[in-house]
Amino acid sequence: MPHDTIVVLDYGSQTAQLIARRVREIGVYSELFPWDTPAERILALQPKGLILSGGPASVYEPGAPTLPPYVLDSGLPVLGICYGMQVLAYALRGQVAAAQEREYGPAVLHISAPALLWEGLPTDLDVWMSHGDRIEAVPPGFVPLAYTANSPIAAMGDQRRHIYGLQFHPEVSHTPRGTDLLANFVLRICGCRADWTPTAFIEEAIARIREQVGEECVLLALSGGVDSSVVAALLHRAIGKRLVSVFIDHGLLRRGEAEQVIATFQHTMGLNMVAVNAADEFLKVLAGVTDPEAKRRIIGERFVRIFEREAQRIAQQVGTIKYLAQGTIYPDVIESATPDRPTAQRIKTHHNVAGLPADMHFTLVEPLRYLFKDEVRRVGEVLGLPPEIVWRQPFPGPGLAVRCLGEVTRERLERLRAADAIFTEELRTAGLLHSETAQAFAVLLPVRSVGVMGDHRTYGETVALRAVCTDDFMTADWARLPADLLARVSVRIVNEVPGVTRVVYDITSKPPATIEWE
Ligand code: XMP
Repeated sequence: MPHDTIVVLDYGSQTAQLIARRVREIGVYSELFPWDTPAERILALQPKGLILSGGPASVYEPGAPTLPPYVLDSGLPVLGICYGMQVLAYALRGQVAAAQEREYGPAVLHISAPALLWEGLPTDLDVWMSHGDRIEAVPPGFVPLAYTANSPIAAMGDQRRHIYGLQFHPEVSHTPRGTDLLANFVLRICGCRADWTPTAFIEEAIARIREQVGEECVLLALSGGVDSSVVAALLHRAIGKRLVSVFIDHGLLRRGEAEQVIATFQHTMGLNMVAVNAADEFLKVLAGVTDPEAKRRIIGERFVRIFEREAQRIAQQVGTIKYLAQGTIYPDVIESATPDRPTAQRIKTHHNVAGLPADMHFTLVEPLRYLFKDEVRRVGEVLGLPPEIVWRQPFPGPGLAVRCLGEVTRERLERLRAADAIFTEELRTAGLLHSETAQAFAVLLPVRSVGVMGDHRTYGETVALRAVCTDDFMTADWARLPADLLARVSVRIVNEVPGVTRVVYDITSKPPATIEWE
């Protein structure tokens, strides 16, 4: 069943993805494409409207991105945001003035002419500006629709042709009524049906999976993270026991996690699941290794070897397996379509459970390929996954090995798990686990310091607490956790975890630090 679709053309703004997400929040399916994607690909989706994102360029720069002819030729409603507005004005022979300086920050928008875009909105709106060039004169057929103190034409429209431009960013949270404004464009001007819901997605995904794999079996590397868990639940619904999930417990998970994954998927949901306890195997190959990159590489390799071994064993029982399911999500797809910074320095080797070798000849099943993370979570909820899995914080593929600085031993892992469990429990009790922190965990440092307990001298290791606030995990700030909560966590860790005599709180943002310590 095709959905009414809005295409967002990406002119390079940091917030282009956010536009597509907002449109989907309104209940309308939306996809993001680089601005110069061939017309056939865009028009094949039969979009009901186009949104042009912002971008860092100036229309006067040599080689600046332009307006592809099909945008206007298609006769579809168009909304240009920031650079998207300027590129429209430039192509339609309005006047765009090169900027003396950028305008960045909050502004008050005064609506000066009625338009469908403004339906249900007050005449003064708080908006967020981030632009260089601005519009000096609207193109023929257009009227100015709003102004701010610094932008005499902050919105414009040709209401006959349904073409609009906004100088500000309706997609960011600093424009509080921005989603209502986008909803006016998408629902009233483009006339889209709001039929993009988790339930609709699930029904269609199930039909597609059944069509793709027919009577065959599908293999899945289940990590217990949100994405692979939702893939497991979805495929289980689609093909039942013909989904074979392999859960490799590398012994580097947090307290209770392996048990929880097995309980949820094997016992409650009845998945056809192979749980491999490989803790000893991983500890053996990690013995004596302290270099962060070496840890990551060794764990990634070992993971692949075990998965191959299991896949072969399963194939002996059920016959050749042609399909491999993966939890690829839309941001991965978008990022690989526009490989930015190819020469960027490698900071960390990321190991993902799904990062399997190219010489395994599988056809991929990727049912979450077009979903954003928050949509994956909503689908997981509708599929009945428990909140502890749906709302699980991101967890690095190499697990606790990169939070256990220095050598990874069974004893030190236990110490780290105990400290981490106390921190998580106190955050949960205080109601701060998800609201104030995007990620919070303990790190065990191979640093010993002197302490005193009762009348005894102690000499033990140090636990660092890390808690960050972030939307995208690319940049992050350390969470300003209440001092009394930190005090409680510190007292409990030193009292309850043998071998730890000191607790510190990490107050470094990213950059310059990264979120994980290794
Ligand atoms: P950093 O430490 O680079 O981490 O600031 C950013 C986010 O990525 C997570 N992370 C990983 N995720 N495989 C993953 O799937 C990995 O190897 C890996 N290393 C870090 C980290 O927890 C944070 O959320």
